[in-house]
Amino acid sequence: MTRTPVTVTVTGAAGQIGYALLFRIASGQLLGADVPVRLRLLEIPQAVKAAEGTAMELDDCAFPLVSGIDIHDDAVKAFEGANVALLVGARPRTKGMERGDLLEANGGIFKPQGEAINAGAADDIKVLVVGNPANTNALIARSHAPDVPAERFTAMTRLDHNRALAQLSKKAGVSVSEIRRMTIWGNHSATQYPDVFHAEIAGKNAAETVNDQSWLENDFIPTVAKRGAAIIEARGASSAASAASAAIDHVHTWVNGTAEGDWTSMAVVSDGSYGVPEGLISSFPVTTKDGEWSIVQGLEIDAFSRTRIDASVNELSEERDAVRKLGLI
Ligand code: NAD
Ligand code: LMR
Repeated sequence: MTRTPVTVTVTGAAGQIGYALLFRIASGQLLGADVPVRLRLLEIPQAVKAAEGTAMELDDCAFPLVSGIDIHDDAVKAFEGANVALLVGARPRTKGMERGDLLEANGGIFKPQGEAINAGAADDIKVLVVGNPANTNALIARSHAPDVPAERFTAMTRLDHNRALAQLSKKAGVSVSEIRRMTIWGNHSATQYPDVFHAEIAGKNAAETVNDQSWLENDFIPTVAKRGAAIIEARGASSAASAASAAIDHVHTWVNGTAEGDWTSMAVVSDGSYGVPEGLISSFPVTTKDGEWSIVQGLEIDAFSRTRIDASVNELSEERDAVRKLGLI
């Protein structure tokens, strides 16, 4: 049976993440090896030519799942009928910049994109915001899409989640496949809190297994939280292939579900769980099933974790207040 293609819109298609992402979507890694996709690439007019070059390369791969590729510099057209929207296009942080510096520069991009999603996206639209500051950009887009259920707007902390898995697996000398229930709380920024107190290594509590509080506080948490800056320092450009890989993971898990007994990290609209103010888009432990996510409930949060979650959530509240002042929400 031939399936109807799923329309996937990617913004910033000519950028470095776009280049790493599109080929993986086209090969079936985003939605599944039997799901045809129609790609819509959105770029600013100056970068349309480069996007056309990427589309030529996509053609040249002869991916059987690609049913068409359209390139737009108009958000309304790019999001028309979109089932999945990956909002990647934004100005990346460069050496020495803090993410807060990006609020104004990038905030202006997400208001018209939210409006365009509201105007014409498919009823089942799922949005992942990758462009930084991702959580607050998702908040901006969401606030301009009143007809789209708030839970369809998410932001990416899966890269942080994967970074945390990698660091813990090295420390414990185990494969990442033996680790479950990792959590990133809060903002995709240096204040984020990677939490191993609820994680498990081969079924046993990860913090107890590692049993090294100094490593946790002085190595693990700062390494994961500041990894984005470390990559910029080393590469002279922000993470791209790993970011694209995490975006694939995020949407794949959202659509196809978390494994029994496991969860993932997604920045989603808060319902007030764990004391995170309602309406903020903050990272939580979530399970997914049948294309819907739910926040894992009932985890005990000790004083150490509470302080760190609160610090990151406070930063999100400040970002929300800043974009409110700028008239972006
Ligand atoms: P890049 O500069 O290589 O590409 C960005 C692209 O976006 C450019 O081609 C630009 O023309 C395009 N663009 C700008 N404004 C646009 C608009 N209004 N509509 C459509 N396209 C637009 O940047 P990159 O390295 O691909 O990174 C993209 C974003 O992702 C940055 O904000 C970066 O900080 C962020 N990022 C997030 C994570 C995360 O974990 N959430 C990880 C890595 C990077
Ligand atoms: C990352 O985490 O690699 C990106 O968000 C880039 C950045 O600015 O930190």
